Amino acid sequence: MNKNIIFIICVLFVACGQKKTNEIPAEKAIVSGAEWLDTDGNRINAHGGGILYHGGTYYWYGEYKGDSTYWNPKVPSWECYRTEAGGVSVYSSTNLADWKFEGLALPSEQNDTTSELHYAHVLERPKVLYNEATGKFVMWLHVDSHDYAKAAAGVAVSDSPAGPFEYLGSFRPNGQMSRDMTLFKDDDGKAYQVYSSEENQTLYISLLTDDYLQPAGTFTRNFIGLSREAPAVFKRNDKYYILSSGCTAWDPNQAEVAIADSMLGEWTILGNPCSGPDADKTFYGQSTHVLKVEGKEDAYIAMFDRWNKTDLIDSRYLWLPIKFEGEKMEIPWQESWIISETFK
Ligand code: GAL
Repeated sequence: MNKNIIFIICVLFVACGQKKTNEIPAEKAIVSGAEWLDTDGNRINAHGGGILYHGGTYYWYGEYKGDSTYWNPKVPSWECYRTEAGGVSVYSSTNLADWKFEGLALPSEQNDTTSELHYAHVLERPKVLYNEATGKFVMWLHVDSHDYAKAAAGVAVSDSPAGPFEYLGSFRPNGQMSRDMTLFKDDDGKAYQVYSSEENQTLYISLLTDDYLQPAGTFTRNFIGLSREAPAVFKRNDKYYILSSGCTAWDPNQAEVAIADSMLGEWTILGNPCSGPDADKTFYGQSTHVLKVEGKEDAYIAMFDRWNKTDLIDSRYLWLPIKFEGEKMEIPWQESWIISETFK
């Protein structure tokens, strides 16, 4: 073969090889209910979680569940499946599909059985906000005794989003029970704790002090007697939304969304936003957070936990994009979807 031809073939070969190695990896799809691995190849363990966007990075905080589930015979009135509380995990991501495990933002206590953070107790539904005035990251979470009788909210603070968080203690906000909960920070910097109270029958919305560490004393009682749990709050076009579940322990039920003109205002129930197969059971999921995707227009993701009550660590995640028509919202079922194709 002519030397020039051999040379051209070699150049083409090298060029093709380079093109392959420079290729951008395909964007991972969000697959409903699939096993979701972190960037180290381990199962993401961040249940009942919430996401904070800070400095160009998303931080996903959640319950770090132990790997053995047991039934708590001391609670005969409902199916109280439990697992050791590992504390609060935190994962980071810039694209919402690939998550790096950053460790335990708030680990549970392994030895001191009197500690509220002891692994035999309940540590659920952690949420974190950043306080611009104090420069602190503030975590609130559901802190409970092994039988869910304590019904309190715990607070922890950190100088960095990945922690470690310093635990400040727990209390019953506004003197009332607090179990399932979330936090919401408004555009004016005011923050609220939203929690299932009065034996889970009534949802409280409680303004926090300017440092976000305590209730400010102003609160409203909402959906009285309607037993709403798993609240997730977001704001769109100056309207406030609360997505929540009914109260059936780890078993799924129908979701409901409500809308208001202000956090402490009157809430109007809009009904079940889910559509498609098993929409009356929230696709076998339970709400935990609604995430606004940064830099994309009208982009919100509804996040749900699909609990596996007899193997709680293997509970899966459902993340679904929300569709809006005027003020109405819809969460259609999707097996899988790609973030950059869905949100422009
Ligand atoms: C659910 C609640 C979960 C967990 C569970 C225990 O109703 O939303 O966070 O507390 O009960 O059965």
